[in-house]
Amino acid sequence: MEEIKVFCPATIANVSCGFDVLGLALDSVGDEMTIRKTSEKGIRITKIIGQDLPLETENNVAGVAGLAFLEKSSYQGGFEIEIDKRIKPGSGIGSSAASSSGAVWAMNELLGRPFTKLELVQFAMQGEKLASDVAHADNVAPAIYGGFTLVRSYEPLDIIPIPTPSELYATVIHPQIEIKTSDSRKILKTTISMQQGIRQWGNLGGLVAGLFQNDYDLIGRSLHDHIVEPIRSILIPAFDDIKANALKAGALGSGISGSGPSIFALSKGEEIAQKVAESMKETYQTIGVDFDIHISKVNRQGIKKIA
Ligand code: HSE
Repeated sequence: MEEIKVFCPATIANVSCGFDVLGLALDSVGDEMTIRKTSEKGIRITKIIGQDLPLETENNVAGVAGLAFLEKSSYQGGFEIEIDKRIKPGSGIGSSAASSSGAVWAMNELLGRPFTKLELVQFAMQGEKLASDVAHADNVAPAIYGGFTLVRSYEPLDIIPIPTPSELYATVIHPQIEIKTSDSRKILKTTISMQQGIRQWGNLGGLVAGLFQNDYDLIGRSLHDHIVEPIRSILIPAFDDIKANALKAGALGSGISGSGPSIFALSKGEEIAQKVAESMKETYQTIGVDFDIHISKVNRQGIKKIA
């Protein structure tokens, strides 16, 4: 195989109680990328459509992730990358992660899978480092593994895939403002109290248990974030109203998607996810905030070949 076209899913990181460690992949929104082998060494970004992003390899998240891949590979050639960017940068649904993980996943396929998924996550994390100053894995891991993933440890990197209950749907609304992850990290405190820790790890354990047990009520009871959400939500238009109305419409829980400004809700079944979407839309329409909205099943497969 000389060329491959892949779908790279958007992702929801943190999922309320799992800051920097939990994430999930979406089905209905993502980028498309075409990767081609070249005899010339190195990585060349030949085309980006949909968004104005840097073509220079060292300044592009897919380029940087690709270089990390090549450095560990015995392959003597290089790759060309074309990106059809459908996820808006700064939206909070893993735009940079889709590009960086899509690039390395596709290269791995073209070379007959020399690397494990865990190694691909490590390469893709270099793209996250470029985009947000921190090599967090909570978007790239679900993009590569699919479903929900837990980063149990960063050093050494340990990714735990978590089963996804079959009726779980996500609704994500993106108010049309851009928030850079690097900026929304700067406003966070660097310490938490013991009491905040206790609440947060109780909920994280509850959420993981709920996902394993297909216990939707437990999932709902656990979707809280007492540490990051109160700080970051100030940057997001009508966050409290969107969340309150989503819960009223039947969502199991709701919170900030990644570093925002997108807001997500999880629901049991597509019908409720649709009602949640209506309530979110109405909230923004009433106050005149422009938005994009997505309803998606949790994507269990992750990045996939489409041509
Ligand atoms: N865990 C990261 C953060 C995700 O919240 O900053 C960024 O998408």
